[in-house]
Amino acid sequence: MDFLTLAYKYKTPLYVYDLDKVKNQFLNFKQAFNARKNLICYALKANSNLSLINTLAKLDSGADCVSIGEVKRAILAGIKKYKIIFSGVGKSDEEITEALELDILFINAESKQELKRIESIAKQTKKIARISIRVNPNIDAKTHPYISTGLHENKFGVDMQSASELYLYAKNSSFLNPVGIHFHLGSQLSDLEPISSAAQKIADFTRSLLALKIDLKFFDIGGGIGIVYDDEKTIKLYDYAQAILNALKGLDLTIICEPGRYIVGESGFLVTKVLYEKYTDKKRFVIIDAAMNDLIRPSLYGAIHKFKVYSQNKLDKTKESLADVVGPICESGDYLAKNILLPPLSSGDLIVFENAGAYGYSMASNYNTRRRPAEIGIEHGSDRILKRREKFEDMIADELKILKGESDGFE
Ligand code: LLP
Repeated sequence: MDFLTLAYKYKTPLYVYDLDKVKNQFLNFKQAFNARKNLICYALKANSNLSLINTLAKLDSGADCVSIGEVKRAILAGIKKYKIIFSGVGKSDEEITEALELDILFINAESKQELKRIESIAKQTKKIARISIRVNPNIDAKTHPYISTGLHENKFGVDMQSASELYLYAKNSSFLNPVGIHFHLGSQLSDLEPISSAAQKIADFTRSLLALKIDLKFFDIGGGIGIVYDDEKTIKLYDYAQAILNALKGLDLTIICEPGRYIVGESGFLVTKVLYEKYTDKKRFVIIDAAMNDLIRPSLYGAIHKFKVYSQNKLDKTKESLADVVGPICESGDYLAKNILLPPLSSGDLIVFENAGAYGYSMASNYNTRRRPAEIGIEHGSDRILKRREKFEDMIADELKILKGESDGFE
């Protein structure tokens, strides 16, 4: 990829996505499960750019959504309503109402209280809500604690005993139709064992529910398969799929998978420009024009994003020294890489972070009133804008109207 040309054409910081790779990742994933009925619901939270989702919609992807906003994005991007599922521990009444109106595949209930809200809203709006229940298998996914979700100390789902009660409740309700079972252990998983144990455990549990005449149709294994950022081991897609398929032997259910990172992570790059080099008596800093507001993963999880330098000048490797690559934000936690050997750099050199397609732009913010970057897609060798760089005016538009008395902010 010619990052120097892209940076010249679109300016920096810039997200660049290789859409051909996104498609391949999706097709590989789908292929791994083709021995069984399956529905691959891309997890929008990883990257919710409409054009990127549309690329997957054209391959007949479904969508895993965690807010009504994501549900609406999925529909706008061309995902079929009956391939959309809606999860999350705290769905509001408005979200539930709208999801029922939109008639998506099912709503994934994460507590008894929420199931009852879904039931009463379905009753009020004269609908029958298709639901699944998120079961928390109490299995340690062995990933970063912030993105581990399958333990009872995490806020997600309900334990199996409660899940049984909820399924029976739903079966006997005139407004609920339990069609699926769901679990999700965590994200960036690099160890197969917890997933295969969880799949076994939930499959056995599903057998017991079927025996109670709870007529489930979908077995949703969540997302979570990791990618290589640094030197971590990864799970082979084939092994992952086999572990799930083995667990489901004898069960005639459609498998739903909710991969996010696997589909888009490796396809994305964050292209940034060196502004200055700065030395204190302790350290060397390379200051770039992107910051933690653009890619928060290093600051938030201590995540590693490898990068390459692209320069018009010849880089002098003999003069390498350790440096932190930092952004302009007013926090010491604002860094994108730490203690990396780098040659002397000049203003205008590019630093391009890899594996930035997942949880990069989707977690970006306007902190410090910084504009979010543009997003560019590359497909069949040509580049196009998927989202223009935010403007200062975009960020302040609503506040300004209020300040000028042109709006009371209620509309
Ligand atoms: N399904 C559910 C219910 C989820 O909670 C998630 C991710 C996924 C699917 C997709 O997981 P994936 O295949 O992408 O691992 N911001 C963090 C990751 C948070 C993941 C949250 N849930 C990061 O940057 O690593």
